[in-house]
Amino acid sequence: MNYQWYPGHMTKARRMMQEDIKLIDLVIELVDARVPLSSRNPDIDELGKGKARLVLLNKADLADSRATARWEDYFRKRGCFTAVLDARSRAGMKAVSSAIASACQEKKERDRRRGIINRPVRAMIAGIPNVGKSTFINTFAGKACTKTGNRPGVTKGKQWIRLNREVEMLDTPGILWPKFEDQMVGLKLAVTGAIRDEILQPEELALWLIRYLTAEYPGILAGRYQMKADTLPEGPDGHGGETGGISGEAAEAAAVLAGIAKVRGCVRKGGEPDYEKAAQLLIEDFRSGRLGEITLELPDPEKQI
Ligand code: G4P
Repeated sequence: MNYQWYPGHMTKARRMMQEDIKLIDLVIELVDARVPLSSRNPDIDELGKGKARLVLLNKADLADSRATARWEDYFRKRGCFTAVLDARSRAGMKAVSSAIASACQEKKERDRRRGIINRPVRAMIAGIPNVGKSTFINTFAGKACTKTGNRPGVTKGKQWIRLNREVEMLDTPGILWPKFEDQMVGLKLAVTGAIRDEILQPEELALWLIRYLTAEYPGILAGRYQMKADTLPEGPDGHGGETGGISGEAAEAAAVLAGIAKVRGCVRKGGEPDYEKAAQLLIEDFRSGRLGEITLELPDPEKQI
């Protein structure tokens, strides 16, 4: 699978972020709680060196809460403050406010020791495209906050949103690009919808998703699509319940996709199953949460960020 990004955009985004980050005390990084590692760019550790760090596990409404708790632990152990949230709802914003307050504590103490009082902590939201940065800024900052506009000493054109007496936030988020060195990263981001649809191969994504769900969330597919294992039809390319030539797992996944096509009436003109349509349907059910709360990766205790 080959996912294309545009190096020009990446370079520009990185340059902007490098500039902006100089003005910042606190980096608030949004990650997708369903894929917390794949949806971050580890360069943020270098970019955010010496800054307070807060990781927000966003889209938590779609993720498995047990896995999210493990991810919080993972990020905390690496020196980041964390909060769990659904950026579209105001409900989780209290937790975010208190996480911001905790993350800022050290900086405020330092200022106080130096005799600096009442200087607001400056924060920036950062994350890869589609992780929910604009949604978060809108919900969190909302109408209640005033834009502070340009001020002397602050880079021209920068807009700051005053969140409260103690914190102001840059209203343009820092855009990071996912790291694609590992092919699985691209695949998981495609499944979650972070990568544009036209470069996807839905069947390949769906087959991977089916295998993952079968292993990690047994029963979830059968429940959603009312399928019985022993009545599954032949899969794409004749790889149905038979294991001829491909692994048992792959054959099983192909048969499940065929089963979804059958149950949901995905058929082509000549009566052939429409696997692509079935794959799209499955992926859409996953993205929207209709399959349930699902996380696609777990922390590896051996692996550093
Ligand atoms: P970005 O600025 O980081 O690029 O992301 P943006 O806020 O545009 O959000 C990308 C999509 O993710 C939007 O959906 C948004 O509604 C959705 N989203 C953001 N936060 C959450 C969350 O916590 N939970 C869930 N379930 N979805 C979230 P969209 O389909 O592109 O737009 P829309 O149809 O919602 O307007």
